[in-house]
Amino acid sequence: SMVRHYKFNVVMKNITRLCSSKPTVTVNGRYPGPTIYAREDDTLLIKVVNHVKYNVSIHWHGVRQVRTGWADGPAYITQCPIQPGQVYTYNYTLTGQRGTLWWHAHILWLRATVYGAIVILPKRGVPYPFPKPDHEKVIVLGEWWKSDTENVINEALKSGLAPNVSDAHMINGRPGLAKNCPSDQGYKLSVKNGKTYLLRVVNAALNEELFFKVAGHLFTVVEVDAVYVKPFKIDTIVIAPGQTTNVLLTASKSTGKYLVTASPFMDSPIAVDNVTATATVHYSGTLSSSPTILTLPPPQNATSVATNFTNSLRSLNSKKYPALVPTTIDHHLFFTVGLGLNPCPTCKAGNGSRVVASINNVTFVMPKIALLPAHYFNISGVFTPDFPKNPPHVFNYSGGSVTNMATETGTRLYKLPYNATVQLVLQDTGVIAPENHPIHLHGYNFFEVGRGLGNFNPKKDPNNFNLVDPVERNTIGVPSGGWVVIRFRADNPGVWFMHCHLEVHTTWGLKMAFLVENGKGPNQSILPPPKDFPKC
Ligand code: C2O
Repeated sequence: SMVRHYKFNVVMKNITRLCSSKPTVTVNGRYPGPTIYAREDDTLLIKVVNHVKYNVSIHWHGVRQVRTGWADGPAYITQCPIQPGQVYTYNYTLTGQRGTLWWHAHILWLRATVYGAIVILPKRGVPYPFPKPDHEKVIVLGEWWKSDTENVINEALKSGLAPNVSDAHMINGRPGLAKNCPSDQGYKLSVKNGKTYLLRVVNAALNEELFFKVAGHLFTVVEVDAVYVKPFKIDTIVIAPGQTTNVLLTASKSTGKYLVTASPFMDSPIAVDNVTATATVHYSGTLSSSPTILTLPPPQNATSVATNFTNSLRSLNSKKYPALVPTTIDHHLFFTVGLGLNPCPTCKAGNGSRVVASINNVTFVMPKIALLPAHYFNISGVFTPDFPKNPPHVFNYSGGSVTNMATETGTRLYKLPYNATVQLVLQDTGVIAPENHPIHLHGYNFFEVGRGLGNFNPKKDPNNFNLVDPVERNTIGVPSGGWVVIRFRADNPGVWFMHCHLEVHTTWGLKMAFLVENGKGPNQSILPPPKDFPKC
C-alpha cells in the first residue's frame, strides 16, 4: 500500500450548459470534478483549499473511515466547515475496500456541482472476481440548474414549499440531446467490437433516482457501493443518489451508434421531473452519417423495472468475499421516514406552514458546533443521546395522511456501545405522500436482509429475511409506501450521520446520527483529531 496525495482547489468557474452560463463552485475548475484513483489499503492525503466565499466540506461517500471520523466530511456532524481562505487535509486509509465510490461537498447544496468519482482498485496482483475487462470508464450522473442552486434552496426554505426541479440531468457533465442546445454534445463512449468495458456508474444527482440504459445491449452487474455482487444480466439498472453500480458492457455489435439514457424513476404521486440525459456508445469504424439506434427509457413510474433490478442483487458471498451478516441482534430499531408539515407564520406561499421531513417524527436540527468534536472533547449542550428507538405512536404508516402532521425538532443521537449489532427497520410513511427515500449511513456498510410494501409486520416478515447472501451497501432505497430492514455491526467508533440522500429531504430534516462509543481493546477507539482540523 502507498500514500497518495491530491490537491483540491475549490474555485469559482464560469460554466456553460443548456446555452446559459453561471459562476459555479468547482474543484480545480472542473465539472464534474477530478476522479481519485487508489488501491485497496492505500492512504489518501487530500489537501482542500477553499478559495470561494462559501464554507466548504468534502465527504468521501462510502469510505468507511475506520477510526478516522475527522476525515468523513459532513459539515457540523464530524467537522466544522473549511472557511473561506482556509485549508484542511483529509487523511484516511481505504481499509479493506475496493470498487467505485465517490466524493462530494457536504454542506448546503454545493454538491450540485462539487463531486467526482473514487476508483479503488484491488491490491496489486489480486484479480476481479469476474473476467478482466479490456477497458474501464467512469460514468457520473448528475443534475444541472441554470440558476444558482444556493438561491434555489434558500427561496424554497423561505416559502416553505418544494424547490424548483433541475433543468436537466447529466451524464459525465453533459445533458446530451435533452434540451436541444447545439453546444451540449452528449458524452461519447468509444468502443471496439468484441471488447468488454467496466462502467463505473455513480448517481451524483441531488434529488433524482435514475434509470440507466444502453440501446441494444445488456449489462452484467458485478458490484454495488464498492461491494461485489453475484453477477446477473439486465437491460436497465436503477440507481439512487449516493449509490454506485459497476456493470460490464460487451461491445457485441460490429458498428453503429447506440443511445445511452439516464432518466428519472419516481413512483410517487408528487412526480414532476421528466428530463432524460443522453450519451452515445460509438463503435469504431462507424460512419459519422450513420443514424443512432434509439432506446426508449422506462416511464418515470416503472416500479417493476426498478424492483426487477433491486430484487436481483445478492452479495457475492464467496470464500474470499464472505457476507458477514450479524445473526444475533443487540439493538432492534424501527425508524419511520417521511415528510410532515410544521407551522411557519412567515411562509406566505406555504399558507402558514412549511414542508419538513423527519425520522421517528424528529426533524433533525443542525448544531452550531460539530457533533464529533463535541463528543470527543465532552462539550455539553450540543446534542442529546436520546434518539427514539420507535416512532412516538403506531399508525397505518403506509396509508393516507394522518391528522397531526407536525414533527418535533431536536439534535438527538442514538448511542451504541462498540461492536453492538443493530437491526434497523426503515418504514416509509404516507404522511403528505409516500416516496422513495435513499437512506445513506456514514462510516458503515450494512446488509439489506428484507424489503416489502405496506407496513412492516414484525411477526411475519422476519421469516423471509435473507441472512445468507443479502446485498451489502451504504445507501439503500426505502420503497415508496414500503420498508427495508438492514443489519450492521457497530465496529467503527465515532459520530455517523444517517440521512436521505435526496438533498431536498436532508435539508428538510430527514437525518439523524449514531454515536458509537469506543471499545476497550486495542485499535477500538477514535484516533486523535489532526492538527489542522477546522474550528467553528
Ligand atoms: Cu453522500 Cu452524507 O452523503
